Amino acid sequence: MEGKTGSMRVLVTGGSGLVGKAIERVVKEEGGAREGEEWIFLSSKDADLTNAAETWAIFEKHRPTHVIHLAAMVGGLFLHLRKNLDFWRKNMAINDNILHTAHEFNVVKVVSCLSTCIFPDKTTYPIDETMIHNGPPHTSNSGYAYAKRMVDVHNRALFQQHGRRYTAIIPTNIFGPHDNYSIEDAHVLPALIHKTYVAKRDGTALEVWGSGIGLRQFIYSLDLARLYLWVLREYNEVDPIILSVGEDEEITVKDVVDAIVEAFEFTGPVIYDTSKSDGQLKKTASNAKLCSYRPDFTFTPFKQAVKETCDWFAANYDNARK
Ligand SMILES: NC(=O)c1ccc[n+]([C@@H]2O[C@H](COP(=O)([O-])OP(=O)(O)OC[C@H]3O[C@@H](n4cnc5c(N)ncnc54)[C@H](OP(=O)(O)O)[C@@H]3O)[C@@H](O)[C@H]2O)c1
Repeated sequence: MEGKTGSMRVLVTGGSGLVGKAIERVVKEEGGAREGEEWIFLSSKDADLTNAAETWAIFEKHRPTHVIHLAAMVGGLFLHLRKNLDFWRKNMAINDNILHTAHEFNVVKVVSCLSTCIFPDKTTYPIDETMIHNGPPHTSNSGYAYAKRMVDVHNRALFQQHGRRYTAIIPTNIFGPHDNYSIEDAHVLPALIHKTYVAKRDGTALEVWGSGIGLRQFIYSLDLARLYLWVLREYNEVDPIILSVGEDEEITVKDVVDAIVEAFEFTGPVIYDTSKSDGQLKKTASNAKLCSYRPDFTFTPFKQAVKETCDWFAANYDNARK
């Protein structure tokens, strides 16, 4: 089965999510698309990608030449603790369906999305692209982590057996507009945005889960989208690449709380509930490989990106995913 030749026809799975919406904005509003290219953004309403027949049908319909593969079951620490099995099974099925079907349809390139939270729990720091399989992941998210690691196994096997150059990016924590802001199930930064918004609105205290000492690197979804397009067009390795701010820009969860409190001008009390888990204490990642390819790339300053995200959430409160 042949993909269309000539200019790119890019299928973006997970096109309705945090990263998918950012890529759509860069493609449509920042001139990210080139003449003659076609970009198709999918949501789960177009196809349930855990289902092989639906995956096949959507490839048959669009005949992509390139795939940006974002679709996944995604969530924060507290959802992982409750739904480890679902993370494993759904993500394994989605990833196998996409990579296998793309190969069958002769897709030239697939860029999948891993995460720095899939790296070994016991490791030396900083972590880099060569260390993904060097030991078990943190038990809190092992289902998700192993399913993501298998994408790398799949990519290497496709290269070995068929010469395919499918690859993956490895982002750190992502945030921005169109995120999932659920207080129970979201990642730390969007959950804190929602909590702070509510605390300010209701004149209550802001209660943070955990002690705030955990260290994290954050990337703004729009910066990630710009880099994702570069990977799709220019990066030719099968080996994955970490897309992250530098090690020196790693910050504590408390720093995140402070930035959100400042963005919302929240003046009430902030309480840290230390009976709740902090998750992995750190997962410092090296962006040396990215810097060697893209020494010119400038990340949006963290506080500015947080402010833009808080403003977006406040303006879209009624329709945001909560
Ligand atoms: N957010 C982070 O901090 C982070 C960090 C590292 C890596 N990542 C990775 O980045 C990628 C994008 O994540 P995100 O944060 O943008 O996630 P998100 O906002 O939760 O979006 C998930 C996307 O996947 C789609 N999807 C979920 N299940 C599906 C299914 N069974 N069939 C078809 N589509 C399905 C969703 O469609 P609907 O909108 O229709 O539900 C949505 O478009 C994921 O691979 C994730 O693992 C995220």
